[in-house]
Parts: sequence; C-alpha cells; structure tokens
Amino acid sequence: MMPLITDKDLRLFVNREEELEDAVDAVLLGKNLLIVGQWGIGKTSFINALRHTLSKKKENLVFVDVRLPAHMDSSKTHEASTLLIALALELEKRKSEDKRITLERMREHQEYVDALSNASIEDLLLVIEASIKKFQRTGKKLIFIFDDVDKISFDLIMLAGIRDSLWKMNSVFVFTSSRSQYLDLVDSAMEPFFTIIFLKEFNEFQAKKLIETRIRFASEKGIQDFVDPNVIPFIQRLSQGNPRRILHLCSFAFRQAYSRGAVRVTESDLSEYVMKQIELETSSPKTELLKLLFEYPQGLSVSELHRKLTKRKISCSRSRVSQILRELSDKGLLEAEKKGRLSIYKSVLPVQVKSK
Ligand SMILES: Nc1ncnc2c1ncn2[C@@H]1O[C@H](COP(=O)(O)OP(=O)(O)OP(=O)(O)O)[C@@H](O)[C@H]1O
Ligand SMILES: [Mg+2]
Repeated sequence: MMPLITDKDLRLFVNREEELEDAVDAVLLGKNLLIVGQWGIGKTSFINALRHTLSKKKENLVFVDVRLPAHMDSSKTHEASTLLIALALELEKRKSEDKRITLERMREHQEYVDALSNASIEDLLLVIEASIKKFQRTGKKLIFIFDDVDKISFDLIMLAGIRDSLWKMNSVFVFTSSRSQYLDLVDSAMEPFFTIIFLKEFNEFQAKKLIETRIRFASEKGIQDFVDPNVIPFIQRLSQGNPRRILHLCSFAFRQAYSRGAVRVTESDLSEYVMKQIELETSSPKTELLKLLFEYPQGLSVSELHRKLTKRKISCSRSRVSQILRELSDKGLLEAEKKGRLSIYKSVLPVQVKSK
C-alpha cells in the first residue's frame, strides 16, 4: 500500500485557484509575473498549472523556459549578458526545433554560442529582439519562464539596466523567487508592469485536499480508508503547511504504517518521525549539524557546515560531515539539492519539531 504519488501530473494540482486566476488575467493583459514563495511551496507546480491553463485559453502562446547553460562560467552569473545569452540560445533552439540534428548544424550551433559569448549587451538585445519579432510575425506571443533563478544565485538586480529593453519586446516574463529577492526586481517604477503572486502555506483544509487528491489518483478508496482523521492536523503542524514537507511526512508515515503491516496511517506513525529526530540528539556532531541546518533553512554545503562546526569548536572532519549528511539523507531527514557543482543540504523538518 503506497497510494502517494510525487510526480508532477497536473491532475494532482490542488488549491491556489485564486492565485491562478490572478496570474492568468495578468499574463493575458501582457503583465510580467513574479511568483514568490519559500522552498517547496509549489512555485514550479504553479508555473506548470499556469502554462496549462493559459494554453487552453489561447493557442498562440509559446512558452520558453530559460535556464543558464551548465557550461557557463559561474563567476559571470551576476552579469546580465549571461541571462541574455541563455535567452538567445533558447530562442534559437525553438526556431530549429523541427530540423534534423547534423554534424554541420552542431558546428554551426557551437559557432553561434561562441559568437554570443563575445557579443556586447546591446548586440545580444538586438539578436533577441530579432528572434522575438520572427515569432511575433507568425502571430505568436512569447512567454519567458525563469524558474529557479534564485537557486543558481542569479542576481535578479542585474536586470535593472536592461529590463526596459526587455519589457519593450512585447513578451511576458515570468520569474519565481524566494521572498528576499523580489523587491530588487520590482521597484516602484516597475510595479505597473508586474503582478506579484504570493504562494502561501496550505491550511489544514488545503493540506487534506493535497493528500486526498493523491490518494484518489492511485486508489479506488478514499482518504478515510488510509489516514486517521487526527493525522491531518498533525501533518499540518509538523509541515507548517509546506506542500513538499506535507508530502514528505505522508510518505514517511505510509512507509511506517506499511512496515508494521497496517493499511491505515495513525498518529503513532508520525510520532515515529519526531522520535527519530530526538534519538539523533545523543551524538554530538550529528546534533550540532542538525541544529545548524535548522538555523539555516535555506541550506548549507558540506564545506559551509564543516566551517561552522569548526567555529563552534566541534571537531569533525570534512569527510565525517559528508558521511553524516549521507546518513541523514538516507533516513529522509535531509534533502540534497544541486547548486552548480555543490550539493546544498536542507532539513526536511521545520524548526518547531526540534523544540518539542
Ligand atoms: N498546488 C499544489 N498541488 C499539488 N501538489 C503541489 C502543489 N504545490 C506543490 N505541490 C507539491 O509539492 C512539492 C513541491 O512543489 P514545487 O517543486 O512546485 O515547489 P517549489 O516552490 O518549486 O520548490 P523549490 O523552492 O525547491 O523550487 C511537489 O512534490 C509538488 O508536486
Ligand atoms: Mg521549483
């Protein structure tokens, strides 16, 4: 019995009706969007749902996901040109999507990449504008999506110098960001061009709906057949309404119930989670490491953790830090996330649990 599905099927998307409506209206009015919310709150899911809803409403929309190419020099990610190069490349890819890949074309593409790398900002803007115009001539409207810009420590503020030129291109820009960064992007002058959508934590009703939908997706039976009613408020409290944490806690609880041969999840399956957390308190580096991760919810790399532990006079080698992190990740207490070549570790549990 494992009725929880964690994929990104749109049929699993729940709640957020109002926000979605606002976002759709804004895009149709040609406004840019800034989707703001903490880690795991559902920014990417929201964008997926938005894309889906918009394309049902209008046929001429072309969505372009802009990601910074992996080979790009990370010391340059604060420069506007990096974003523009990524944008130009993505547009180029769109234009030649249906052509066959040949050696000749790959060589041409590489030449194009090299040329872009050496181009000035003004030239890049011209190249982009020309590409966009080509799409617009066929009646298409472009929507550029910059998801996860903050994860690659991409400084949104660098847009300031070029944004006027970008906004003039008659396309829509959609950004997602953690709360701290948004003000840099939308200052008072830019406000009329932007709609900001805040994604809030799920309340108990919404948390239930999230879980319910996933269960219904996988099983004929309902939520009451799998989950004790008092489990939902417990999950809500532990997760603080963060959908990613809600799903984590759920799959933990389901695994726990399964391992004792039960079909229904009860509160005790979740207490197990909290207990495991407390058990960890007996070994010093592990506890200190967890404490650090609670203090830094945005996550820390191995070397950052090692440095901070040393500062607190806890002797623990770098490789031991890595080992502990692996153990904790295997137990589902941490989550690793790639940030360029680095892995950033984050605690899955919110701070409150720890203080219990
Ligand atoms: N409205 C929703 N309906 C259903 N599931 C959701 C919803 N929002 C988020 N989720 C689920 O929660 C998890 C986290 O969502 P998502 O990856 O979209 O968050 P995010 O804000 O993009 O995270 P990050 O900050 O890491 O980029 C996913 O498993 C997703 O399926
Ligand atoms: Mg995301």
